[in-house]
Amino acid sequence: VAGPSVARLLAEGRPGQLLSSELDLPEAFRAALPVPTVLQPVRTDATADHYEITQQVARLEILPGVRTEAWTYGGGFPGPTVVTRSGRTAVVKHRNELPVPSVTHLHGGHTPADSDGYPVDLLLPVGSSPDAAQQAGGMAGMAGMAGMAGADHAAARTAVGERSYTYPGKQRAATLWYHDHRMGFTGPGVWRGLAGFHLVHDDEEDALPLPRGERDLPLMITDRSFAADGSFRYPAVDPQLAEPGVTDAYANGVLGDVILVNGAPWPRLDVDRVRYRLRLLNASNARLYRLELDPQPPGGDALVQIGSDGGLLAAPVRHDGIEIAPAERFDVVVDFSRYQPGTQVRLVNRFGSGRTAEVMRFDVTAKQPADDATVPDRLAAVEALDASAAVATRDFTFRRSRGDGWTINGRPYKPGESIATPALGAVELWRFSTDLHHPVHVHLDHFQVIGRNGADPGPYDAGWKDTVDLRPAEAVEVLVRFTDYAGAYMLHCHNLEHEDMAMMADFTVR
Ligand code: C2O
Ligand code: CU
Repeated sequence: VAGPSVARLLAEGRPGQLLSSELDLPEAFRAALPVPTVLQPVRTDATADHYEITQQVARLEILPGVRTEAWTYGGGFPGPTVVTRSGRTAVVKHRNELPVPSVTHLHGGHTPADSDGYPVDLLLPVGSSPDAAQQAGGMAGMAGMAGMAGADHAAARTAVGERSYTYPGKQRAATLWYHDHRMGFTGPGVWRGLAGFHLVHDDEEDALPLPRGERDLPLMITDRSFAADGSFRYPAVDPQLAEPGVTDAYANGVLGDVILVNGAPWPRLDVDRVRYRLRLLNASNARLYRLELDPQPPGGDALVQIGSDGGLLAAPVRHDGIEIAPAERFDVVVDFSRYQPGTQVRLVNRFGSGRTAEVMRFDVTAKQPADDATVPDRLAAVEALDASAAVATRDFTFRRSRGDGWTINGRPYKPGESIATPALGAVELWRFSTDLHHPVHVHLDHFQVIGRNGADPGPYDAGWKDTVDLRPAEAVEVLVRFTDYAGAYMLHCHNLEHEDMAMMADFTVR
């Protein structure tokens, strides 16, 4: 089936990009690249490290000369980076001082259901009235919470003021991130700043000679738009009530015209002539990027991919460019010694135009310090799931259906209504298909892509993934296997506006 190509859709400019038209936007490559602070534990014991994050409103200077009111984890955007060790439990206590309820999800986390950030497990703001939890339960019930649990379940899982999320750390080294996941409001929550990195380290990765320390850089790429007073611009529409057509900006997913990396507009960084590890995260609500370095180094293959959503690949994959959909991570190594001193190397977005075609710039210095970082040909032991072991095949169709809005298998999201019940430990083949374009995300465990439209996986599908970009008219086959934790989890489109318009479903692991 021939569908419109992604490149064509993007070139035509989907409606929905919001413009920061009343502001003089800064020139690119002036701001220094910020690196989010690493969160220190407040206490550690034999098995667990305990962290605390206060969700709060902050007035940040994102664009020079104006203040932007943001919703933040700990006062910054991005939030602080949580760094944990495989095999150790991390307990993160969140305190909600925002004006709205929140739900925190560790994206890519192998997390028990009660800490996964189920979208109606609300954390109400500090000082909410004692029976607010009961009311929140009632509201979730009215919003259509299905099944036996219903409103009681939601009430029981609503907390006021503070909530601790427990991450047992039974997973390999990987670049994860945490973000808001409140039912119906994930898009505006993340847009206003509720996102941060969570890195897991392990012995297998530590033993490799990869770049580390300040040459291991997390890069959170987002697009945003700003109003005249510096505030984030976001469509003020209630997706439940708005008419299709009136809200195309919303329906296509909200796009901004300012590209931020770690919260700074089109920043720059001085780099020495050595290797750097860049942990690329697309934390944009809806924008798909094709990232390339410009100029390319002689011989190309500038981006040496060492990891995907779920950690290290078995072997590096070399790319001239990387197509990265919302929520995906690509861990790449760039060798800046391939450039002459003084070269200004732009990280560009080939799917953008004008301002959104630029992301950041690396300025190559004359320094070439002694450095023995390399990328070995063998990176990690990666078990290949076996398709012939699959005990079930399930189809999930992502569609905008007339009447029901944005759906999976024809159904808009209802908490508590499960559309699949995989058994713990069993391999299953899941087939995602679509007419349009959707980045599909599965909670609890990573999966492996085994085919696209009946052919081999694409160039960006290697390794363990938790988000796979589904192109127009594509069917993608993945092998899933859920382990350790039974309970209700979600799969959904990670275009956050589609997610908020109910393109989400529960599956229940038993
Ligand atoms: Cu990053 Cu269910 O989300
Ligand atoms: Cu979508």
